[in-house]
Amino acid sequence: MKTVWLIGIGPGDPDALTLAAVKAIGRMDVFFLLEKAGEGRDSLIRFREEILARHAGDRPYRIARADTPARDRAAADYAGAVEDWRRRRTDVLAGLIDEDMADGESAGVLVWGDPTLYDGTLQSLNELMATGDRPDLAVEVLPGITSVQALTARHRLPLNRVGESITITTGRQIEAVADDAGAVTNSVVMLDTRDAYARLASDPGLDIYWGADVGAPDEVLLSGPLPETAPRIAETLRERRARRGWVMDSYILRRRRPGPTGAG
Ligand SMILES: C[S@@+](CC[C@H](N)C(=O)[O-])C[C@H]1O[C@@H](n2cnc3c(N)ncnc32)[C@H](O)[C@@H]1O
Repeated sequence: MKTVWLIGIGPGDPDALTLAAVKAIGRMDVFFLLEKAGEGRDSLIRFREEILARHAGDRPYRIARADTPARDRAAADYAGAVEDWRRRRTDVLAGLIDEDMADGESAGVLVWGDPTLYDGTLQSLNELMATGDRPDLAVEVLPGITSVQALTARHRLPLNRVGESITITTGRQIEAVADDAGAVTNSVVMLDTRDAYARLASDPGLDIYWGADVGAPDEVLLSGPLPETAPRIAETLRERRARRGWVMDSYILRRRRPGPTGAG
């Protein structure tokens, strides 16, 4: 049996690993360090290496590195490009399992945040299991603190309001509803490379709770009515991208309503 462990490592604060993650890291025979080419690659790898240096202990372990393919973000066929990227990523994982693991070994994949939130690794592994080609393959998932939880904690903001749903979505999808005033009530927005919040910035009923690189020593948080806060976010992103080269940001868009706000 070969077991691949997807270990959630939280969204960038080395103290945000769970005890289960720390214990699992100490048990692995090999770690698959996967990163896609592009901005931020080196610092994401460095973060994982620091986690290993801190938690892997004295037990010997190997590191197998692989570049995961970058997605073609300019492709006209969005769904086709995502599917192609996902297939190539699955092939990379299959290669690591076949060539860099022996029978009886455990391999760890250190996944940013939580492995079940906007991360394709688990889907790729489930597909490999479903083919039936590797009957000796097992997959285990260890949850991590998500960037959503890090963001709400830093803003001291209950994720949901009493009796209300909460949507977790992407910048692309927010952009698609930008002309439908009122479509957004309470949304967590991730993976926004297109500043989609700015498309809603004339809506006086929305508040935004925004964070970049939350959990990192130089995290930045901004919040307030969207019309006033959007330009400050845009300026902060511009400055940060120029200085740092890359930024991970997410935000909550919440429609104001009368009365107290609380969780239920
Ligand atoms: C590919 S998704 C991975 C999400 C991750 N699995 C999780 O559980 O948070 C990457 C997106 O997560 C959000 N994100 C990840 N880390 C973040 C951080 N430290 N601060 C703010 N947003 C973050 C950003 O929206 C980024 O575009």
